[in-house]
Amino acid sequence: MDRKNILCIGAGYVGGPTMAMIACKCPQYRVTVVDINHEKIARWNSDDLPVYEPGLDEIIRATRGKNLFFETDIEKGIRESGIIFVGVNTPTKTFGAGAGKAADLQYWEKTARQIREASESRKIVVEKCTIPVKTALAMERILTSKDGDIRFDVISNPEFLAEGTAMRDLEFPDRVLIGSRETPNGIEARKAIVDIYLNWVPREKIIESNIWSSELSKLVANAFLAQRISSINAISALCEKTEADVGEVARAIGLDSRLGSKFLNASIGFGGSCFKKDILNLAYICRTYGLDDVAGYWESVVDINEYQKERFILGILNAMFNTIAGKRICLFGFAFKADTGDTRETPAYTIARRLCEEKAELVITDPKAIDNAKTDLADIGGITYEPDPYKAARGCDAIAVMTEWKLYAGLDYRQIYDSMTKPAFIFDGRNILDHKGLHEIGFNVYPIGKPPLVHFT
Ligand code: UDX
Repeated sequence: MDRKNILCIGAGYVGGPTMAMIACKCPQYRVTVVDINHEKIARWNSDDLPVYEPGLDEIIRATRGKNLFFETDIEKGIRESGIIFVGVNTPTKTFGAGAGKAADLQYWEKTARQIREASESRKIVVEKCTIPVKTALAMERILTSKDGDIRFDVISNPEFLAEGTAMRDLEFPDRVLIGSRETPNGIEARKAIVDIYLNWVPREKIIESNIWSSELSKLVANAFLAQRISSINAISALCEKTEADVGEVARAIGLDSRLGSKFLNASIGFGGSCFKKDILNLAYICRTYGLDDVAGYWESVVDINEYQKERFILGILNAMFNTIAGKRICLFGFAFKADTGDTRETPAYTIARRLCEEKAELVITDPKAIDNAKTDLADIGGITYEPDPYKAARGCDAIAVMTEWKLYAGLDYRQIYDSMTKPAFIFDGRNILDHKGLHEIGFNVYPIGKPPLVHFT
């Protein structure tokens, strides 16, 4: 088999950028990315990539057609490659047992069967997608369930990239985790994957482990990150009831080197495709093993996240004299975080729906996520979508910051204030604006976890 031919099945947020980085750093490998979605592949082959990531365009331009190829013939890809990365999506199940909690593995299982059917020689199959622990075992079982002497080794190589910083995370990872069965064949297969990363990642950052530790580490890393956000968000509620400022508290605790300063920004809640899904998966696995207390502990991280969104809505209602019916509210941002157009699990989605339930008139602006917002909220009529934040805010009673896009901190808020209905409100769901400055202009300002700055007595 040709271990210099790498295939990736799944051309999404993980597969596309990761393979682009491998192609860029390993010119001696030929990397092919395939997907059942022909339109997506066509876009990867165009100037309009289906994923927005700073720095991705440049890498794609430098490698596409040289040693990076986007194609639709999955079976041919499988036949020609010795190493197959699987990056298909594993959304949360929406039906049957474990609905809303367990991962929906149907695409993933279909892919495993496809690999088995098309393979004519030994393959190393690498799990890239976030999947519940023991998926590798299921994959092994599917791959080896057919008569024949083709050998398959399943490797877990979880992806830790964050959207918006994917290219930097891929180029300078904190660590690369590669798990396999600890048999001679498993270890030999694992080495083939280590060799790929050694082209640009220092040896000491490449961690080898058993396959279950590797799979579980991914879920646990995301659960811990999300837990930090829920912890600071829970404290933001207490700060709002007292004279404390959550930013000052975060700074004070973050200077403890055991805690560190990252991921302590209070917000309207975490979003994204991974955190909620991974925690619910983790909790589901715990329940499967009868560890109900452990499951409950992790589920509370998601509960606080839901609470934080609802608290934000109630804060808006309360500040705006307990009614927002017929009032125009402008959402600054819809993406789940800055520097991405991705809106999966974005808190803005829940907040937009709740505001509509309260009969507010919504205007949504975002530099990258307007198309996704339109699709997500297609069933709700009467929402205005406007890419220009100045036009979006015009005539509105309130602005609510949903996404921490840098551009929102640099706008001319005097001009915006003059164009709005009075009294004008700003609810800064990300604490990115100059609250004092806004207050001086005339806004009533409501940050997260800090005392509001208002003009009413
Ligand atoms: C996450 C993990 O960081 C990454 O390692 C994993 O591979 C995939 O899941 P991602 O979902 O892309 O990455 O974004 P991340 O930067 O982790 O942010 C997640 C959410 O938390 C966003 O909605 C973000 O705005 C929010 N957040 C983050 C906060 O509310 N406060 C913070 O301090 C940090």
